[in-house]
Amino acid sequence: MNVRSPGWHFLQIPGPTNVPGRVLRAISEPTIDHRGPAFADLASSVLRGLKRVFRTNCPVVIYPASGTGAWEAALVNTLSPGDAVVMARTGWFAALWSEMAKRLGLEPLVLDSDWRRGADPAAIEEALRRDGAHRIRAVCVVHNETSTGCVSPIAAIRAAIDAARHPALLLVDTISSLASIDYRHDDWGVDITVAGSQKGLMLPPGLSFNAVSERALEASRAAKLPRSYWDWRPMLEANAGFYFPYTPATNLLRGLQEALAMLEEEGLPNVFARHRRHAAATRAAVEAWGLEGCVELQCQAPTDYSSSLTAVRLGEGHSADALRALILKRFNMSLGNGLGVLKDRVFRIGHLGDFNDLSLIGALSGVEMGLKLSGIPCAGGGVDAAMAVLTE
Ligand SMILES: Cc1ncc(COP(=O)(O)O)c(C=O)c1O
Repeated sequence: MNVRSPGWHFLQIPGPTNVPGRVLRAISEPTIDHRGPAFADLASSVLRGLKRVFRTNCPVVIYPASGTGAWEAALVNTLSPGDAVVMARTGWFAALWSEMAKRLGLEPLVLDSDWRRGADPAAIEEALRRDGAHRIRAVCVVHNETSTGCVSPIAAIRAAIDAARHPALLLVDTISSLASIDYRHDDWGVDITVAGSQKGLMLPPGLSFNAVSERALEASRAAKLPRSYWDWRPMLEANAGFYFPYTPATNLLRGLQEALAMLEEEGLPNVFARHRRHAAATRAAVEAWGLEGCVELQCQAPTDYSSSLTAVRLGEGHSADALRALILKRFNMSLGNGLGVLKDRVFRIGHLGDFNDLSLIGALSGVEMGLKLSGIPCAGGGVDAAMAVLTE
């Protein structure tokens, strides 16, 4: 039997994030008729509000699914069996998306990285220039790689595709960046933006999204991969009248309406600045802890530092999983684990969603005490360094 832990549980994984009381209360309201007029008002409000967050005038499709569903939707709606797709494999989630593409009968052309930086626009441009026959139909990039804490430069990748004069679609996963890190679907010429509810949008898991450009819609008319549940067509037809072709996740949509209102009240530029500041304070803590290369940032490219999470890498012979287990037991805080080749080498501090200075200092204090108790060689003073950033 678990012993009761008093006080708040610190959920500091990089999503699902802490769901604010306002959103939880909205979700707990009585379920409404999804074919009635109150639902049409709700759908109209969230479909309009989402466009402001994705920075788009294009339609945004909402699925009652996790982010993985929205990945699949992006591929099956626009591609045909045997199509080549460039996959920038910058970490664990990019690798999973690429495996999905393969299982669906696509041909992923993988551009690997060392998982310590974002995608390289020059490598994408080169791959496209080599493809004179235009077999490549899409370039898939994860904007914020949640396994590494590295961000890819989407505007530069769009410029690289244009420089190669290649017609490939640009598909971007913003599951851990939307509403945390500046992102612009229209301005950056993205064709499909994939997102999920459980991170910057401050909702529980269960909703995911495709923002769909005119070019992506055009591609969907010729695409031959089988699709039914994920098909945009019946969804967009029903959404035109503010309904859904199947039972929507009514209560989550009500939560989404509240979360969108909260984001608008704070103002997206302020939301991004808050995330940037917390990320800078977290990096200051990690740098202060660093000793003998035993505690360091996983992301090695300062231009690619993530604002929504920081992945911390431990030296050889030290177990990140043992540290996380100790911190959970002693301080009732969950940290993200290392994924794939980073298993047990990395732990991840999520600082996204409904989050403030004291939540951050609490989280960093838990990590600093955990490092000390675990005997991992590290310097103290990380929390002080973070406080110095927050009081600048
Ligand atoms: C960047 C990224 N892409 C995709 C996924 C998969 O989303 P889900 O677990 O909601 O299916 C995640 C999950 O954390 C993610 O962080």
